[in-house]
Amino acid sequence: METHGFDLPAETPMSHLPAESRARVTLPQLHAWHQAGRKLVMTTAYDAVTARIADAAGVDVILVGDSVGNVCLGFDNTLPVSMAMMNHHLEAVARTHPTAMLMADMPYLSFHLSVEDTLRNAGGFIQRGAQAVKLEGGAKRVPMIRALLDAEIPVMGHLGLTPQSVNLMGGFKVQGKQEASALRLLEDAQKLQEAGCFSLLLEGIPADLAAKVTETVEIPTIGIGAGPQCSGQVLVFHDVLGLLPGTSSKFVRRYAEGFEDLRTALAAWAEDVRGGGFPDGRESYTLPEAVRPALTQWRP
Ligand code: KIV
Repeated sequence: METHGFDLPAETPMSHLPAESRARVTLPQLHAWHQAGRKLVMTTAYDAVTARIADAAGVDVILVGDSVGNVCLGFDNTLPVSMAMMNHHLEAVARTHPTAMLMADMPYLSFHLSVEDTLRNAGGFIQRGAQAVKLEGGAKRVPMIRALLDAEIPVMGHLGLTPQSVNLMGGFKVQGKQEASALRLLEDAQKLQEAGCFSLLLEGIPADLAAKVTETVEIPTIGIGAGPQCSGQVLVFHDVLGLLPGTSSKFVRRYAEGFEDLRTALAAWAEDVRGGGFPDGRESYTLPEAVRPALTQWRP
């Protein structure tokens, strides 16, 4: 297996430190942490606000996910997300210069048409500040992955419940529950590792299957709905913080009730405005004493 020279000491930099006191997270650093048995933490960000919060929280990897389609843009799934949309959101995140490693998600049809098209799209992400790309799919993606690596672009694979396959899967259903599909996923994981992926995202698969993948590959696995034995975990930013109305999926744990807390705060401000309580002296500017007489004497 290609090692990419991952030989940095596992101790530095500590990503649990505040973002301003840590160095930029790199691929070798991620692998050093993985080799040292440290769980990797990844979340999504889609704009400067979410990127700054994620980075200040000390996550290791920020993914500009194609989940921007359903989380931020109101689509039912990720299929309508275009390269133009992804570039727009990646640029906003990159402008914050996060210390977390920045990764961009290859949207539907951005890596299916030709090697040239795939390279142009992924290369555009790198030129916009991404350090790596992620793409969905198993063994059939190997030629594209090899071409990306030839162009010095690190790739994270994505197996299991791959949202871009929603039509083939007949919905967002847990994958790998049958013997054949579980074994196929194990084979795919080997092939993506051999092709040079630096990590595998495992989504929506039984915990035992994710544990077996993690045990049988050397590269780190990042799980979402894939149980606790992956090398790291990812959740969508808005899911962790409860920013989306309604109930969460089984694999999500909310660490805040963002939607309700923010709704309550905004409603309180609206009430203050309507009742004349906002703004008051604290939010107002004062006229210099010397200008006051002129204002008092002035008539239209
Ligand atoms: O786009 C996305 O948010 C993802 C998740 C699985 C993290 O790919």
